[in-house]
Amino acid sequence: MADLILGIETSCDETAAAVVERATRVRSSVVASQIDRHARYGGVVPEIASRAHVELLTPVVAQALVESGVADRDIEAVAVTAGPGLVGSLLVGVSAAKAFALVWGVPFVAVNHLEGHLYAAFLEEPDLELPLVVLLVSGGHTLLVHMEDHGRYRILGSTIDDAAGEAFDKVARFLGLGYPGGPVIDRIAADGDPHAIAFPRAMLDHDYDFSFSGLKTAVVNHVRKHPDAATADVAASFQEAVVDVLVTKARRAARDVGAKGLCLGGGVAANSSLRSRLVDACDEDGIRPFVPSRSMCTDNAAMIAAAGWWRLQSEGPSPLDTGATPNLRLPVA
Ligand code: KG4
Ligand code: ZN
Repeated sequence: MADLILGIETSCDETAAAVVERATRVRSSVVASQIDRHARYGGVVPEIASRAHVELLTPVVAQALVESGVADRDIEAVAVTAGPGLVGSLLVGVSAAKAFALVWGVPFVAVNHLEGHLYAAFLEEPDLELPLVVLLVSGGHTLLVHMEDHGRYRILGSTIDDAAGEAFDKVARFLGLGYPGGPVIDRIAADGDPHAIAFPRAMLDHDYDFSFSGLKTAVVNHVRKHPDAATADVAASFQEAVVDVLVTKARRAARDVGAKGLCLGGGVAANSSLRSRLVDACDEDGIRPFVPSRSMCTDNAAMIAAAGWWRLQSEGPSPLDTGATPNLRLPVA
């Protein structure tokens, strides 16, 4: 059994490598963020991202191996994100992972990035009981997933337009707060009144799907009409509207499917208000909340190694002709 896995993640603007043992023990996790290279453009520039991955991947993998204390010859499999993501960025990781697997003579495992986010929670809480509902909220995705068993997922709902993180990024850009928008809105909102402005909660009573583009427009319209509105109040009221919808739908889903727990995943799961509101909702409903540490919520390679370990158990190695798939979907039951 392959227990010591090297994970590689290059799907967007983080170059990451990690060594994880049996999908539970993180021996090392190195993340080189490229945020500084993209910030002045207000978003990720795909060509800059691919080139940065080429530059950063070898030192990042070397650092992950050194920090783990595991010798190259003891790595038993290499797992890598094969999608979804930016094709040029994905290709850098996939090609490198195949090369390492071939040179070391160990299995190669292609992992879905979203499946990685689902497994982040298990790295810190290996005894999490299934079934779970996972609210996966990142810059590219907003999904409510019913995790029935390992590798068996059902998508309950998703966004019909912008992802939650995208909404944070776009609103922050409009407010002149820079990129990425989530962390800065989170910080500024702490000094604002979340009830100052009643922004819309789209589709609140409507199944499990989400829509955030109307909210973004509402923020733009409000600020144009009230140029003196305090930025902290706008940020806090916007964040409150997003969190309200996310928490309301996630707890409803958990109740409806009889989940034992409700988990958060993805970059937006680093949001302080979302984290505390989700825990309160679970406490009220008598289900177990699980909110991974912030470093496990944002993109990292430990979660890819963990998902790779489970994939390897259930399906074995991936063929070496597996390519990068920019719009790869979560494998559903
Ligand atoms: O999962 P992730 O690191 O990358 C993707 O796969 O997209 O998520 C990045 C997203 C960005 O949109 C960023 O603004 C958002 O997560 N984000 C946050 C916070 N930290 C990161 N959104 C709200 N509050 C935060 N504290
Ligand atoms: Zn992600």
